[in-house]
Amino acid sequence: MTKKKKQVKWETAVKQAMYKATVKEAKRRKSPAFNYRWEHVTAVVTLAEKLAILTGADRDIMVAAAWLHDIRKDTGESHPRKGAIFARNFLSQTDFPKKKIKRVARAIEQHMGLWRDEPLTMLEAQLLWDADKLTKIGLTAAAHWTAGDIARGRRRTTRDIIKQGRKADWQEKTIASMHSKPARKAAKKRLKAYNELWDKLEQELDGGDLK
Ligand SMILES: [Fe+2]
Ligand SMILES: [Fe+2]
Repeated sequence: MTKKKKQVKWETAVKQAMYKATVKEAKRRKSPAFNYRWEHVTAVVTLAEKLAILTGADRDIMVAAAWLHDIRKDTGESHPRKGAIFARNFLSQTDFPKKKIKRVARAIEQHMGLWRDEPLTMLEAQLLWDADKLTKIGLTAAAHWTAGDIARGRRRTTRDIIKQGRKADWQEKTIASMHSKPARKAAKKRLKAYNELWDKLEQELDGGDLK
């Protein structure tokens, strides 16, 4: 009698695979004090799942794509394409529904860019793009970038943090490129909070609130 191969549970598997990749990246970045990629990806997963619920997109595809979208970040610019190849191979060795793998790979392959000239066409690709970019606007971005840079010894003073934070002047373009209504609405609120954060922080440092 042949033993049936035990199927690996995909949700646990993708999470573990991504965690391993993020620890490697943190070591490579010489910032073990703050695992930037893990913070980023877990935030994207939460938003992707929520966007799936709000829009009726496929939850499995959204969650798998969110966990794996940056798994080949070590390959730089080509990480969406390499990540898509990884996802295809990896998911086929788990209990993930075979017929959905192609769409996970496509969503990962198309997640690049801080803004877009043309919108994406597949719903799950649109929402992964939105979820990924939402984490780069707002207080999440402020916390992740600041902590990440401090861990790498890049920002030293509070004024540096403010200056660096204000450099992200592309965020309006990102909002204009958002595909889904809920993401665009949230992005606008996030950008407002982000800009206010730097203004208020600077005001406090200057004692501008003492009247
Ligand atoms: Fe990415
Ligand atoms: Fe990402």
